[in-house]
Amino acid sequence: MTFQADDNALLIDGKGRRYLVRLQPGNQFHYHQGIVDHNLLIGSEPGQTVTSTGGGTLLVIRPRLSDFILKMPRGATVIYPKDLGPIAVQADIAPGMTVLEAGTGSGALTLALLRFVGPGGKVVSVERREDHAAIARRSISRWLGELPANLDLRVGEVEDVISEVPADRLVLDLPEPWHAVTPAATHLPGGAIFCAYLPTVPQLQTLAEALRASGRFAQIEIFETLHRTWTVEGRSVRPDHRMVGHTGFVTIAHRVEAPSDSARSPGEEIEESVSPPEGGSTGVAGEGGIDG
Ligand SMILES: C[S@@+](CC[C@H](N)C(=O)[O-])C[C@H]1O[C@@H](n2cnc3c(N)ncnc32)[C@H](O)[C@@H]1O
Repeated sequence: MTFQADDNALLIDGKGRRYLVRLQPGNQFHYHQGIVDHNLLIGSEPGQTVTSTGGGTLLVIRPRLSDFILKMPRGATVIYPKDLGPIAVQADIAPGMTVLEAGTGSGALTLALLRFVGPGGKVVSVERREDHAAIARRSISRWLGELPANLDLRVGEVEDVISEVPADRLVLDLPEPWHAVTPAATHLPGGAIFCAYLPTVPQLQTLAEALRASGRFAQIEIFETLHRTWTVEGRSVRPDHRMVGHTGFVTIAHRVEAPSDSARSPGEEIEESVSPPEGGSTGVAGEGGIDG
């Protein structure tokens, strides 16, 4: 489909530098190698190369959501794309669900959550700072064309909202998520999943202790995701020299009625190891295999 006015385009120069542009009739994109008229791009197919007035060549493609997130304006630090997918899978966020999120921050996680729950789901996102909420509103509208009807953006404290939203999932990216544990223990329905994203070890220790002390969360699982890109060019086949070394840790916990011993993390339940399955990889008892 050709580029239309108001579409986002990603322009990539010969050195791999990436520029996010919102196409507007009559506007121009300026960079160190000259100018490109937006009118040249509107109506063209993504995947073409354009030449700037200074002789630079630029590949023009549609940005992926991950490209947009890395380039969009930020009020607060965003959750990196490398962590968004694992959050969806490990917190098991699926189409049709209601997700309560906080803080909205710059809206990166909100955009990903909207995609995970689909048009039949709902995202309620709470942000304590009006300036951050305003930035998020603008970015979400820019990416989706408008604020979607299944997004409820609220300015306030998430701790005050938990009782009002029958959420399947609570996803927190804020510095002190332990303050949300008691309201979550009281109001989240049984079977809901609590997910928190935290950058430092003391924070995740405090959160894990609060989850256990509540007596209403089990199967507490904590992980981080390392993402390393590779160069594959001729005989140069190797990991890239640079990578994002650390972003954050994800904590997952199930809301239960009686946690018993299962408040321990799944990784603590090491049973006797079993023979490797056919194909060779080793496993831990209890992993893999579906009866029936
Ligand atoms: C790291 S940012 C979130 C970034 C966001 N996940 C994203 O990907 O763009 C944390 C945000 O949480 C907000 N915040 C902190 N505590 C809060 C609370 N108790 N309720 C609502 N928002 C809160 C902060 O104002 C900040 O904007």
